[in-house]
Amino acid sequence: MFGRCSDCGSWNTLEEQVVEVAPASIAIAKTKSASKTIANHARSSLTLAEIGSDRQQRLPSGYEELDRVLGGGIVPGSLVLIGGEPGIGKSTLLLGMAQQLMQHHPTLYVCAEESAQQVKLRSQRLGLTDQNSANLYLMPEIDLETIILELNSLRPPVAVIDSIQALYFSALAAAPGSVSQVRECTSALMRIAKRNHISLFIVGHVTKDGAIAGPKVLEHLVDTVLYFEGDRFASHRLLRSVKNRFGATQEVGVFEMAEKGLLEVKNPSELFLGNRDGSSPGTATIVACEGTRPLVVEIQALVSPTSYSSPRRTTTGIETNRFLQILAVLEKRIGIPLSKLDAYVSSVGGLQVSEPAVDLGVAVAVVASFRDRVVDPRLVLIGEVGLGGQVRAVSQLDVRLKEAAKLGFQRAIIPNTTVLQDYGMKLIPVNRVLDAIVAALPQVQLPDNSSSDLATDLAELIS
Ligand code: TYD
Ligand code: MG
Repeated sequence: MFGRCSDCGSWNTLEEQVVEVAPASIAIAKTKSASKTIANHARSSLTLAEIGSDRQQRLPSGYEELDRVLGGGIVPGSLVLIGGEPGIGKSTLLLGMAQQLMQHHPTLYVCAEESAQQVKLRSQRLGLTDQNSANLYLMPEIDLETIILELNSLRPPVAVIDSIQALYFSALAAAPGSVSQVRECTSALMRIAKRNHISLFIVGHVTKDGAIAGPKVLEHLVDTVLYFEGDRFASHRLLRSVKNRFGATQEVGVFEMAEKGLLEVKNPSELFLGNRDGSSPGTATIVACEGTRPLVVEIQALVSPTSYSSPRRTTTGIETNRFLQILAVLEKRIGIPLSKLDAYVSSVGGLQVSEPAVDLGVAVAVVASFRDRVVDPRLVLIGEVGLGGQVRAVSQLDVRLKEAAKLGFQRAIIPNTTVLQDYGMKLIPVNRVLDAIVAALPQVQLPDNSSSDLATDLAELIS
């Protein structure tokens, strides 16, 4: 027993870690290496020409939105991890997929978390009956070895494991859901998937902070990682690819949770714009990035004459200091007399957007509210506002523009940088906040001597 680390000298810092090795795999490794010599070794590497293309082999999942996120359908033998908070609809999505796949192939659904009766109840909700589901095999099982035997005997092209946290490999002492169990079960499933060309969809739960042993430790093992998340529109769900060996990441699929399962939302832009009242002044749309994930958010501002000795400034979802800074820039550089006005700003749903790229949207929303003007709802604003009134570059512009284009926006006001790609959107590069305001509120002609005109506006506003 040691109480003190012989390396760093600190006390009570040693932890026990049991390294478990499956004896069978060592035996296999030994016999393999003994029997292998250069003489009996057949070439096992392939040239590119010898490797077939996977394009034509991809299986449609039955959901176009899912196919898109996967990069064009299910690749045989691929491992797809679907992460998400409990209750978001992972089981519903995968059961819906299994329901469509089984019309052509036998499909295995391992329900390790729920009883077969519970899954049956859910499938009835999705419209499955005993007659029309002959090819769907439900397996309420948590034992990894039994599941592998079943995969080997049934050989379905696609199987669902719901969820990886519930599986148990008896050779390991650890409890289901622990890091070692989750990792070993996934590697074992991976071997069987690759060998038998079975595509596996593995469900993994994550909590909000991603703390539970789950998707995070698996991300490097699997081919594709998808996250299923709710968004601010109550019943809508976004499926995002964060890693994909067979396609682009940052793809988004949009679904709606309905009474009878998940429905695809094929044209999210209409849904998105349909949620907005296009006639409310003082609203602008921005694209925020949460980590690497872009999110289109509506910003609302309200300015009105104050009835206090010092005007009020209130923010929801936006950093107060940044807001004060933007107001100062608008007052000093553009000449908007905001010091006599109360100013409020909020992001829709109170979503926290605390990065500089939202500045330009906030500035334009304030001016739009001040002049009682409506910003085109199909326009997004991306840019940081500098103290000199200039618009500064932001990170991940490409990701943000892709997201806006995906959601059907038609124009984007961006910092003045060279953009090489065509996003299917009109891009308006600007150098100064003033240029952005003129572009976003074209019905207002800002004369060169803008402050006097603004003063007239203010007089109208107050009277
Ligand atoms: P579920 O797929 O069980 O979530 P997860 O597997 O991610 O934990 O979905 C749970 C929620 O979805 C539950 O609150 C009920 C709702 N739901 C519907 O609204 N409609 C449906 O048809 C189904 C099956 C579920
Ligand atoms: Mg579930």
